Amino acid sequence: MGSRLIGYGSYLPEKVMTNQDFEKIMDTTDEWIVQRTGMHQRHFAAENETVVDMAAVAAGRALENAGLTIDDIDMVVVATTSSELDFPSVGVQVLGRLGATRNQPAFDVRGACTGYIYALHCARAFFAAGMHQRIMLIGAEKMTRFLDFDDRSTAVLFGDGAGALIFEHSSSGYSGIIDTVVMADGREFDMLHGTPDHKISMNGPETYKKAVTLMPDAANYIMEHAGITASNVDWIIPHQANLRIIQSGAQRLGFPLEKIVVTVDRHANTSGASGVLALSYALDNGIIKKGQLILYPAFGSGLTWGAALIRV
Ligand code: UT7
Repeated sequence: MGSRLIGYGSYLPEKVMTNQDFEKIMDTTDEWIVQRTGMHQRHFAAENETVVDMAAVAAGRALENAGLTIDDIDMVVVATTSSELDFPSVGVQVLGRLGATRNQPAFDVRGACTGYIYALHCARAFFAAGMHQRIMLIGAEKMTRFLDFDDRSTAVLFGDGAGALIFEHSSSGYSGIIDTVVMADGREFDMLHGTPDHKISMNGPETYKKAVTLMPDAANYIMEHAGITASNVDWIIPHQANLRIIQSGAQRLGFPLEKIVVTVDRHANTSGASGVLALSYALDNGIIKKGQLILYPAFGSGLTWGAALIRV
């Protein structure tokens, strides 16, 4: 038993923060940021704009795209690590915002930058068990909550935003969420984690070294598991943390750069929203077309990493 993608939507806050804007407030340059990360700009949520606000708009757009209402959805899974409230979950708050009346379940997955792959993993399992007809998956983050403008090594790297995907149960195992793999290594906690005062602690170079091997490893693992090779894949959407990591991963996989979806230049790293936003962007702009096979590797704090195989 499988699924198919029947709707998508996204939301990016209005405020765009460029590299030049950072030059004015800290000791950095556009040249450094572009050379080291490939980022040119990122979106910053307004001070009173919450993760739930962004998630609800993206979810509403995905429902409109699918021609559905929230009561047509049987379960909501949200990938987020930046919710302002400890409880209830962003998922439940989105149900409330959208006026759901069916008491359908909703919950959040805290998988940091790998969160949307963990959420896809959950959705695939629920479809495989035949438990739900339609699942909405949201990735939503307000990373600016964690930014320390005295730390130039992390402040320039992140952005805010939300994306939503709606999958419907299908008897075909070859569409929608075809396969997923998720992994974690808690021994590597020190490399990248949140601090008690809500900041980001990251050893950039060490994280970089892990990312350039673990994402291609996860991609290779899932291709082997599905019995396919890179030549069968139409697009790779890697987690958008750094253009150099994306390019290095593509090289390791022997995959042409023209077939890699890149949004890190405009969205920067939106953590658990990254891949969902990138897929929405690629579909909206006609880059990815219906029926194409997408390989989705991600990596993040934990360490956590994984990959998904999706036919849109
Ligand atoms: O999504 C979760 C996963 N996260 C990641 O995948 C991030 C992985 N890491 C990276 O992407 C890169 O390590 C960074 C982009 C974070 C940093 O790039 P790097 O090439 O590894 O630079 P570095 O940390 O080795 O720093 C090189 C220099 C240092 O100066 P010195 O000590 O050589 O004089 C830094 O102080 O660059 C300096 N630097 C900056 N300079 C200007 C660090 N941040 C900045 C900045 N502007 N914003």
